[in-house]
Amino acid sequence: MKPEILLMEPMMPEVEARLDATYEVHRLFDAPDQQALLARVGAGVRAIVTGGGTGAANAVIDALPALEIIAINGIGTDAVDLERARARGIRVSTTPDVLTDDVADMALALMLAVARRICVGDRFVRAGGWKSGGVKLGSKVSGKRLGILGLGRVGRAIARRAEAFGMAIAYTDLHHHADTPYHRYPTLVELAHESDFLVIAASGGAGSRGIVDAATIAALGPDGVLVNVARGSVVDQPALVAALTDGRLGGAGLDVFAHEPEVPEALWQMENVVLMPHQASATVETRLAMADLVLANVAARLAGGEPPTAVV
Ligand code: 8YV
Repeated sequence: MKPEILLMEPMMPEVEARLDATYEVHRLFDAPDQQALLARVGAGVRAIVTGGGTGAANAVIDALPALEIIAINGIGTDAVDLERARARGIRVSTTPDVLTDDVADMALALMLAVARRICVGDRFVRAGGWKSGGVKLGSKVSGKRLGILGLGRVGRAIARRAEAFGMAIAYTDLHHHADTPYHRYPTLVELAHESDFLVIAASGGAGSRGIVDAATIAALGPDGVLVNVARGSVVDQPALVAALTDGRLGGAGLDVFAHEPEVPEALWQMENVVLMPHQASATVETRLAMADLVLANVAARLAGGEPPTAVV
């Protein structure tokens, strides 16, 4: 008998095939009646495999008495109640390092796309507009001031890339990163005030909820650009939409949102906004590397060992 696992969101077909080969996979996202599925198979499930944004609700965890590990296919743990897991001896693992470069690449791509109006130009050419006119000028990225919220692995990878663009790099973080040459501002508002681009690379969760608030957005100002490759929860989304609507913020490049897959319709028509459906780690190469870690973590735990990249 194969061990039973609960899959919370779809993965690449070849990854799901690998899971199917080793485990009896119950697909919660596919179930017409999720409660009924949990009631039917819950007692036998030993592992959850999930995404960083999806996580696992406590109601699901509580329905799985034999659960040994929650393997997150991502680095965010904000959608899993770590204390609840710890209290029951359930391990929680993530996929660190392998996605760092892709997330940083996405941050740079969004900065460039907003400032250089890449999506606007693309739509313009496709609509046949070039023969009868031109597009508005963009704004420069190279040499500008970049503020990074959260100088963890992703934040540092963004900074390294920005160095090649000759940007002046500063950050704010709970910790002082003395091993970097970057200036640390004590508050987010001060950082935003001194930045042309503010990139969010901080973890989601209770500690960061809504910290990019109306005051931060006002400090970034009508020429500033906000980029978010972390979590929608870090931003006061209504304040962001209002500032973009009124022209109090220059632009935004957003890969994540407060209530995915909902994206405020007010943003859809804005030329100074680039929208992505949570794709920062979504490359074939990286998703395969992430899957290797997910599979290794589940296998280790179900064999009675410690998952190699456990956080709990
Ligand atoms: C993934 C993420 O999109 O790392 C995270 O926490 O949110 C992303 O890398 C996700 O985990 C896959 O659904």
